[in-house]
Amino acid sequence: MNQRITSTTKFSGSVRVPGDKSISHRALMFAAMAEGSSELTGLATGQDVASTAACMRALGAGIDQIGSGVVNVRGVGEGQFTRPDAELDAGNSGTTIRLLSGILAGQQFDVTISGDKYLSRRPMKRVIDPLSEMGAGIDSQGGLPPLVINGGGLRGIEYILPVPSAQVKSCVLLAGLFADGATTVVESMPSRDHTERLLPIFGVPVECKGLRCTVNGGAAPRAASVTIPGDPSSAAFFAAAAALVPGGQVLLENICLNPTRAAFFDVLAEMGAEVERLNSRSEAGEPVADLRVAHDGKLKAFDIGGALIPSLVDEVPVLAVLAALAVGTSRIRDAAELRVKETDRLKAVAGNLGRMGVAVKETPDGLVIEGAARLKGAEIDSYGDHRVAMAFSVVGLVAESDTLIGDSSCANISFPGFYNELNRLAGRA
Ligand code: S3P
Repeated sequence: MNQRITSTTKFSGSVRVPGDKSISHRALMFAAMAEGSSELTGLATGQDVASTAACMRALGAGIDQIGSGVVNVRGVGEGQFTRPDAELDAGNSGTTIRLLSGILAGQQFDVTISGDKYLSRRPMKRVIDPLSEMGAGIDSQGGLPPLVINGGGLRGIEYILPVPSAQVKSCVLLAGLFADGATTVVESMPSRDHTERLLPIFGVPVECKGLRCTVNGGAAPRAASVTIPGDPSSAAFFAAAAALVPGGQVLLENICLNPTRAAFFDVLAEMGAEVERLNSRSEAGEPVADLRVAHDGKLKAFDIGGALIPSLVDEVPVLAVLAALAVGTSRIRDAAELRVKETDRLKAVAGNLGRMGVAVKETPDGLVIEGAARLKGAEIDSYGDHRVAMAFSVVGLVAESDTLIGDSSCANISFPGFYNELNRLAGRA
């Protein structure tokens, strides 16, 4: 399926984006491990979280169909799952395969977990190494999925993360719940900390001091009621559209503003957009607020790198399209991890910006983007990557001619209904 994006002179209104994807995966996994029945409200509705739900069902948890309301999860208790009849399928979801590998490493059975053609190209050595050190037996296809995990008999370790990755950190901490003794993970820079915030809500203590976090083996999750706030990574596309379309404004309701996730909105404010937090509150152990974003006039270029990157890692594609219309040269550094996401996002973004007439240089770990006064509409290759498809849909709203997003249905991975909402705010529905 292709999606045509036509330029607009209007972008305004309110949006409620789907529940946070990272928190949704974790809430489903912890509720599935727990003794008793959990109530999860506001779970993400996209395909990635559906993949996690399907895996947890195959492992013995009872999970209602995921819709907009409350989802009841009947956990197996003490994280003791049953061996699934078939291979587990993580679909497109890196979070599903990497976090679940930690849980599967603690089970007394062997199981295979695979994924779609994109996930099958993503590196798994980063979880195989620590899980093997803990005592799990894992076979892979030269470090790629499918993974055959032979679990049980784990011992606690202290692990220094070689890459800043919340998926790897969470994988090791979850395996640690099944290990003898304590398991500690040490980061060199902060990555998203949803696992550390959510496990205690399910009754599992996590002790964090600076960049070191420890769990103790044998701690079993208890059922909990959790309301999941909106996903800042999905909200970022609407904030960007409001900043790009002259006179644009948007109210983003109920957004998770965890500091390990919210740096995009700080960069947007530094570029010159108005970003206002309203009704600050707390939900699921996370800071939450409504965000009002508005802008009229030119945006300024940015230069980002270092410890900022993990807190906007999924927003780099949309930041890159903002840079294309900013005044000056924008730089993204220290972002080599983008090359091993759903696709090589640095290459995908550089190629597509080039098609729209932007001068862009790809570096080994980033991009240098010359802001332009005008953009041509173009045929965009999304490479089946939801965030590439959505970022170029946003910039298509201000291109001089129509933009065609190839394989546009990949937006359903994180945001079913994305194009309808974009059209509605552009005054077309
Ligand atoms: C995620 C962590 C990040 C992010 C991904 C979700 C998570 O990946 O890109 O979309 O839920 O833990 P890495 O941990 O590989 O950086």
